This record gives sequence, structure tokens and C-alpha cells, in this order.
Amino acid sequence: MKKVILTGDRPTGKLHLGHYVGSLRQRVELQNSGEYDEIFIMIADAQALTDNAENPEKIRQNIVEVALDYLSCGLDPEKSVIHIQSQIPELFELTVYYMNLVTVSRLQRNPTVKSEIQLRNFEASIPVGFLAYPISQAADITAFKATAVPCGEDQQPMLEQTREIVRKFNSIYGETLIEPEILLPDNKACLRLPGTDGKAKMSKSLNNCIYLSDTADEVRKKVMGMYTDPNHLRVSDPGQVEGNPVFTYLDAFCRDEQFERYLPEYQNLDEMKAHYRRGGLGDVKVKKFLNSVLQEELEPIRNRRKEFEKDIPYVYEVLKKGTEAAREVAAGTLADVKKAMKINYFDDLELINEHIRKFSK
Ligand code: TRP
Repeated sequence: MKKVILTGDRPTGKLHLGHYVGSLRQRVELQNSGEYDEIFIMIADAQALTDNAENPEKIRQNIVEVALDYLSCGLDPEKSVIHIQSQIPELFELTVYYMNLVTVSRLQRNPTVKSEIQLRNFEASIPVGFLAYPISQAADITAFKATAVPCGEDQQPMLEQTREIVRKFNSIYGETLIEPEILLPDNKACLRLPGTDGKAKMSKSLNNCIYLSDTADEVRKKVMGMYTDPNHLRVSDPGQVEGNPVFTYLDAFCRDEQFERYLPEYQNLDEMKAHYRRGGLGDVKVKKFLNSVLQEELEPIRNRRKEFEKDIPYVYEVLKKGTEAAREVAAGTLADVKKAMKINYFDDLELINEHIRKFSK
């Protein structure tokens, strides 16, 4: 079986470190591993509109931002098909047929949808499109016959729903669709990167993000202002490492060799954590180290972004070509689906002949 990746992001803002460690960094690695036959990266603008219906301008502005983030992180249009969801109508045809295989109560039980409904105060008036977006996401994934979906932990319920839809479709209409597996980052700290304020998640609305496109100065200021252990008042006080976002970021980003370069008094992060726990290690020192580590990772990304920003027509060309290529694949799957459902009337000679016989009696 072919090995195929599909994953994507909603273009509601620039991408931040949470996106990066949760999925983007791994995508680039998977892309460069050469282990996959096809890789599709979707800018999910139609999904973004399910809770931004009154604000298409925001989505429109952020498509190119996300594309720039992708390219500057090393997604290579020669290897990965970067495409725009709304320009592939086949996805929405698939969605309509899948809708018949899912109950409203099943959607209401989807944990990610549930928490997003709360977050957006949608309880009393949920847009139908929003409630149904897991079905549309199943269409995104199955349209490309994806075998693997690298994404953050929050997408796990979407993958579950997709697999249920695939099983149900195949059991009713015969083996047609592929059940995908989720690829989560192996590093625990990367599953859900907290905000700079220590809140559970980086989120634009909470204003606690470090963006891939932030300047060196912005990154430094955000790092130096990060929430740490509130009980670690004096340098000599023992500090807590668990739930301390500065250490979670270090877990996600730092490598042993960076201690040699920036903080040779420790061999590795474990030694640094032990010192913090004992007392005697100040937050400023930890934050300065984190800043060096992050700058090292972000500088090449930032520099590549500046180059791509000088050639926006190229970025649009990448999106257009990728969307055309992706559309062809989705159209192939839609044809398979319609055939399996026997709603391909004009290609179905058996049906036409049957009707000729039936009405000639
Ligand atoms: N739901 C994803 C997010 O919130 C975006 C997305 C849309 C996606 N379609 C997808 C992710 C298919 C993985 C696979 O960012």
C-alpha cells in the first residue's frame, strides 16, 4: 500500500511554536525521510470559516501567512503538495455523503468540538457547519487516501471520527476508503505546548504565543516575560519544574550540545532541572538559556521567510499548482466513492440496460 500523509492547519493566524512542535517540525522530518509516497498539506480555510463566517477577510489574509510559515519551515513544494481546501469542491461532495453516516449526538460527544463550543460560547446556537466540521475533516483525510496524519494531540478525536466513518462506509458500500493512523510527536512536551503565561495552550486569543515570524527582539521579550514557578521568589528558593512552561519549552527544544555552547556548567537539562529544584538557580538565567535555544531554531526560519516574502507571486504559484494537483487526487477518490455507492448513473451501463429491459416489457 502507498504511504500517504495528509495534514493541515486552519488559516486563522500566523503559526506559532505550538504548531511547530506539535506537527510542523515533524512534517518536515517526515517529508525529508523519503519514506512517504505522497504528502499533502492542506490550508483548511473552509474549516476556519465554520467559526469565522462573518470574517472571511481574516481567513483571506492568513492563507499567505500560513503558506509563508510552511515554506520557511522547510516544507518543499517539490515533495509536499500544499493546497487550499475551499478550492477543491470534491471535498464538500464527500462531506455530504459522509454526513449520512454520522449522528448529531456523536458529533456533540466529540471532545474537541465540545471544548471548542464552550470556548466560543456557542452552547445555545451552534452553527451546523461548525458541529459538522469533523465530518468535513474526514473528507479531507480520506480524499487523499491518507495512511498517516501527523498532527497535535487535540486532533485525536477527529481521527477517531474519521476511522469510524471509513469503517461504516466500507461496511455499507464495500472496501473503498483507507483508515488513517495519527502520528503524534514522541516528545511529551510537544503534545501540547503551554502558552507563555503558563495556560494550557498557546492561543492567539489568549495573547500568549511566540510566532514563527516574531523578530528576535519580540522572541526575547516574550521569553523574558514568561510565567514560571510563582513560589520561586528568590534565587536560593527551591523551584518547581513540573508545569513550569520555561522548562516545558526546554523539554521541547533544547539539545545537550547547546549546554556546551551556552551553559557549560550543566551537561544536560536533567542537571539544570535538579539545580532548579534544589534552589540556587534563578529564572533569569533559565530564560536567557531558553532564549538562546529558541533563537537558534527560529533564526533560519525567519531568514527564509524574509526571502519568500520578496517573491509572493511564487508563493501563490505554489498554492495554485498544489491545489490543482490535490484536486485531481480528490476527484479520483470521489469517483471511487460514487461508484461504490452506485450513484455514478451515467457510467453504469448495467443500470441503463436494466432500465431498457424493464420499460420495454
Ligand atoms: N483541524 C485542524 C486544526 O484545527 C485543521 C485540519 C483540517 C486538519 N483538516 C485537517 C488537520 C485534516 C489534519 C487533517 O488545525
